[in-house]
Amino acid sequence: MLASVRTQPSTMFAATATAQPNIALVKYWGKRNADLNLPAVGSISVTLKVLQTRTRVQFDTFLSADSLLLDGKLQSGAELLRVQRFLELVRARAGRKLYAHVESDNNFPTKSGLASSAAGFAALALAATRALGLTLPQAELAQLARRGSGSAPRSLFGGFVEMHRGELDDGSDAIATRLLSEQAWPLAILVVITDSRAKRVGSSFAMEQSRQSSPYYGSWIAAQPADLASMRTAIAEHDFGRLGEIAEHSALKMHAVAMAAEPGLLFWNGATIELVHAVRQLRRQGTEAYFTIDAGPQVKVLCAKPDAERVLAELAGVPGVEKILRDEVGSGACVVEESR
Ligand code: PMV
Repeated sequence: MLASVRTQPSTMFAATATAQPNIALVKYWGKRNADLNLPAVGSISVTLKVLQTRTRVQFDTFLSADSLLLDGKLQSGAELLRVQRFLELVRARAGRKLYAHVESDNNFPTKSGLASSAAGFAALALAATRALGLTLPQAELAQLARRGSGSAPRSLFGGFVEMHRGELDDGSDAIATRLLSEQAWPLAILVVITDSRAKRVGSSFAMEQSRQSSPYYGSWIAAQPADLASMRTAIAEHDFGRLGEIAEHSALKMHAVAMAAEPGLLFWNGATIELVHAVRQLRRQGTEAYFTIDAGPQVKVLCAKPDAERVLAELAGVPGVEKILRDEVGSGACVVEESR
């Protein structure tokens, strides 16, 4: 049996990885190097548990091109190109010239401001490297994942995570590190969907437009180290009120920078704004809940676990809310299957 296996040339190398999206509490907005996808600012996030991406990568000697099946649909154009470029990096790193078939499924709406690219490229980086027999140290995996999406390194880790801006030109210090494990501070995170259609403007394009034309871009960059320091302290001290206030402020500042670009970038719809008011109303009534918003119209709300049902019931009544996904603090990306 063993002898016959040895005589068969191996033609297929596959691995499957899962990763959860992460929600930035101190936002990443702006790049210091667009080619290497180096962030202009550090950021701090929390990784989710229930929302998940599952990605299978199969390198095969019989394939003559890369292919991508995303949520059951065969992709072409920009989406495929982005994955092909990423696979080129993995092939170069492994010294292999095999094409791959990638299948990726999200259990949540894709490309609508729910960090599907963060989870997607964290899972892809892990699955593709493992499929080719590479077990990269976390710092190297983070650098690779970052080339796919600036927020992807954060999804490699569970709990509360910091993505470092780094100073080096080659980006070797632009990596993620964990601040606090997923067990250390259980919080509820409600993902309030107000429009599940794919967004029209991608974050890379919007960041560049902000950098080039927003009059607030410089002050956004200058204030980030202080926000990061305050958030690190809030997380270390489990100070939820402080965490929430910094998170809301960071989100509103990021959107103000984008809105002031030329032409202005506005990711919100009417329900997004109503939800912001509803969260602040809950606080006035004594329930500690805080919002954050990424490059889309969805609103993510953080609260203590015992308050989650009440907050959910209140927000479900806001006109324009399509759906609320109940989530919590989860773990980092992991390999779930390997075959070589
Ligand atoms: O990693 P990208 O290119 O999808 O950009 C993420 C940008 C925000 O989600 C708006 C902020 C963040 O830090 O996640």
